[in-house]
Amino acid sequence: MTQSSTTWYEAFGGNEFFTDLVHAFYVRVAQDPILRPMYPESDLAPAEQRLRIFLEQYWGGPDTYSQERGHPRLRMRHAGFPIDEDARNRWLTCMAEALAEQDLSAQLHEEIWRYFVGAAIAMQNIVDDDPPAGIASVSDPSGNSPAGH
Ligand code: HEM
Repeated sequence: MTQSSTTWYEAFGGNEFFTDLVHAFYVRVAQDPILRPMYPESDLAPAEQRLRIFLEQYWGGPDTYSQERGHPRLRMRHAGFPIDEDARNRWLTCMAEALAEQDLSAQLHEEIWRYFVGAAIAMQNIVDDDPPAGIASVSDPSGNSPAGH
């Protein structure tokens, strides 16, 4: 490396890395019976492009995403899609497999995987690993509910 400070984007391998990663991810999304129907367009290529330019910008590469799409507001942009625990885990599984195909050092792999896990948890908008409605309000394991029960 010729420069003393380098971006994560460059460390990962720049445009080639993000293009390959996101493509490998979308090959899997296209075959997933839960994820695929969530995508409104019949052609996944534009969605693939949006994820790629978002990730490139996030990791310090070109800011094409903001120029084309404005502020990311990713949670808001996902609000219309029913993302439960299953969808979240499928998304992460597709990404884990796509990442495994890339030639990354253990450190870089760890860094981006940690990010994806956190981001996917943040995008989940249906909390279905809680007890069914009604159960939580009557069982207070502390025994210190305000009503004194
Ligand atoms: C947790 C499971 C997730 C599901 C089921 C999901 C699903 C979707 C769907 C259905 C779309 C619309 C496709 C389109 O662009 O037309 C979308 C868009 C997008 N997703 Fe996700 N997503 C998930 C997590 C994530 C995560 C973790 C990230 C980032 C790390 C992400 C980044 C994006 C981006 C950048 C867009 C395009 C936003 C825009 O500019 O319109 N998604 N996602």
